[in-house]
Order: sequence, then structure tokens, then C-alpha cells
Amino acid sequence: MSDEKYIGPEAIIKKKKEYMIPCVYHFYQEPMQLVKGQGKYLYDHKGKKYLDLFGGVSVMNCGHCHPDITEAICKQVKTLQHTCTIYLNQPIVDLAEKLAEITPGNLNKSFFCNSGTEANEGALLLAKIYSGNSEFIALKQGLHGRTQLTMSLTGLSFWRTDPTPVGGISFAPNAYCYRCQYGLKHPDCNLQCARAIRDVIETSTSKNIAAFIAEPIQGNGGIITPPPEYFQVIKEILDEYGILFIADEVQTGFGRTGKMFAIENWDVKPDIMSVAKALGNGTPIGAFIARNEIADVYTRPGASTLGGNPVSSTAALATLDVIEKEKLKENAAEVGSYFKNSLLNLAVKHEMIGDVRGIGLMLGAELIKSAESKEPATEETDLVLEALKNRGILIGKNGPGRNVLAFQPPLIIDKDDVDNLIENLDQVLREVEKTLD
Ligand SMILES: Cc1ncc(COP(=O)(O)O)c(C=O)c1O
Repeated sequence: MSDEKYIGPEAIIKKKKEYMIPCVYHFYQEPMQLVKGQGKYLYDHKGKKYLDLFGGVSVMNCGHCHPDITEAICKQVKTLQHTCTIYLNQPIVDLAEKLAEITPGNLNKSFFCNSGTEANEGALLLAKIYSGNSEFIALKQGLHGRTQLTMSLTGLSFWRTDPTPVGGISFAPNAYCYRCQYGLKHPDCNLQCARAIRDVIETSTSKNIAAFIAEPIQGNGGIITPPPEYFQVIKEILDEYGILFIADEVQTGFGRTGKMFAIENWDVKPDIMSVAKALGNGTPIGAFIARNEIADVYTRPGASTLGGNPVSSTAALATLDVIEKEKLKENAAEVGSYFKNSLLNLAVKHEMIGDVRGIGLMLGAELIKSAESKEPATEETDLVLEALKNRGILIGKNGPGRNVLAFQPPLIIDKDDVDNLIENLDQVLREVEKTLD
């Protein structure tokens, strides 16, 4: 691969500074220009190969440029690219039918849009229309999008940039067991954080609540993974008050946790679900799906010009086919549990790894300066990311302290890839630990 046809990182940064709104940040002190993706690998403009363990933030579940998905997209793009929902076409209804088949419970009717933010915004609107209520409850450390409402429901100050967030929103405690706000330990805690939602309803709302929205595993929040009974306790309380549960599966869906949807790990059936990211394996698409009883009240006009257009619907159908045919759920479960155990073993060697959490191939390792202080190792996390990138491995970071290493790779990785990461991470942590002395 020649680098002559590429302008390179410096020129990109220069153009970015000049022509892009500065809120869009990128990773790394010395970033590379990515020019090619193939399976679990990405390549930069100099031909350097990287093992991608972040998947474009939980998007590339089937791997980069999967030949079946690419072929389906190309065929559709050459035949019929766009019509809008004012005309009938088949891919959108085939996709809606497929989502009804694979989603848990009785989720049956979909509305298609272009992103996770839009999917959540639509799900929230549907909850308002159905319930006739306007208030919402969300979880601390959750992230739901960039529109005014979805950002107002986001429980991470880092991403709450709107100076005038909307009212009528209350936050319930999340299940951050590593830093339990009650100072308790599971299971002796009796799920106090989940039970606290009753107190939130009783004291912080008018009880005219349209819905509770939550990610089954909080991605940007730091791969916060609630204990087994958490969502069951919450759902029982919500049902008691007649409050709808919206599961935001934007980051967790489509096989990532070893189940098609992460909420299935808690055996709880949401009333509405929002999806995006991995649904199109890189093609922009989002959707919200609801039970008939809820969906059927939304009869006044609703349209999205490009939502579920023939190309993105075809890409999504091909993606779901690959997930099934290549048994990616099963691989996520198997390689994911090997990955988690390997991280746990590494944590025994490195005090810097304060906590390891997650399910399947949605894993996090929280870095701290010392076991005693548990102070977030924010700068050190950046050093780890940079050093791994230099060694040809890409991972993510998140959490309120920006100190959680995030592993959300394509679901096609194998145990050798995990060993490769662990060996390199071990060496990198040893180097970074020296900066703490
Ligand atoms: C859980 C969750 N919901 C919603 C969104 C917003 O999705 P999008 O960036 O596609 O608008 C994100 C994005 O990271 C997310 O992680």
C-alpha cells in the first residue's frame, strides 16, 4: 500500500481545525490516518496493520468490509438507492419482520431512522404519546444521544454540553459496584441501588412518568455491568407504577454480549427497545421497536427521509444473516469469557487494574493509580492506549474518569487475538506503572 495518495494525519488535523466544529475530538497524541478495513484489522496510510478491539465503538460486529454485506450493499446501491417511505419497498418491511423475530418478548413494530440518538428520541416520543405523561427517569452515567432530550437524559457531565437541558428528568443510581455509592457489596447490598428507583419516583417526580430509559450495560459510563437481579428488581417496581421500560441497546445489541440483545442476560422484557450502531455494521441505521399495544397509538404522521432506506435496510438484513450464519453470538460468549478471565488474571499482576467487568465481548478494565486511593488513572489510560496503538492494537476508553479501557471488538476475534492483547497490555502496563512511582 503506497502512502502517496493519502494526505496523512498532519494535513487531516490541519483541515479539521480549519473546517470542522472543534467539539469533534480524536484519540491519540500521534494519530494515524486509517484507510482500509478488513475483518478484525484496520490499516493506516503507511500500510501498518492494527488489530481493532474497539470496532468503531461497538459497530463492526461482523468485522470490517464483510464480503457478504459489502456485496449486498453494492447490489442494492446499483439497483435502487432511495425512494423514501412515501413509496412501498421491500427491504424495510423485511427488516421490520426480522427485528420482530429476534427481539425479546413481544416487541413487534419498528420505526426506522439513521442513528442511536434518533432511535432514542423516537422511543421517548412514543412513550410520551402512549402514556400521556412527560417525565422520564434515567440512570446516572448513562448516555443516550446528542439531541436536547437524549442529552438531558445522559448522566455523564462530560457529554452534557447543552447549556439548557430539559426538565422533568430524574436520575436513579446505577449499579457501579466497584464504587458503590452506598458503600455496600453485592449480594449483601440487597440491590439497594435498584430499589432506590422507588424513592426517586416517590420524591423526585410528579409520578406522571412516561418511561425509564437505561442501557443494559453502560458503554460510555465505563462498561458498568449490573448484578444478575438488578433489572428484574427495577422492572417489578416500574410495573407497579405503570412506567414503561426503554432498553437502549444502541451499544450492546446484536450479539455483543453473547445474546442477541444484552437485556436478555437479565431475563427482562423491555416495553420499547432502541437500536443502531451494529445493526448496519457501519451503514447508518437506527430503529425503535415496541409492543403492538404501545406502537399502535402512534398514528399521527411520522417520517424519516432516509430512515430504513433500501440500502441501509439491505445492509442490516445482510448483517443479521452474517451474525446468524457465522454464529457470532456464540463466539462472543466463548471468546468473551476467555477474554474476561485473561483480564482478571492480568489484574492479579497489576494493581493498576482496579476492576474488570462486562459480558461477552463488551468488556472494561478500570485503571487506578493505587488500590488504596482508587484514584482514576486518567493520564495513564491515555498512555496505555497510545502504546498499544504503537504496537498495532486499537482499544477504547470511557467512564466518568476517562480511565476505563474498553474492549468492544468485532465478534469474529479469537483466543489468539486475546492472548496477543494480554501479552502487549502486560508489557505496556509495566512501562506505564513506572510513571506512577
Ligand atoms: C447507548 C448509546 N445510546 C445512544 C447513542 C447515540 O448514538 P448515535 O451516535 O448513533 O447517535 C450512543 C452513542 O455512542 C450510545 O452509546
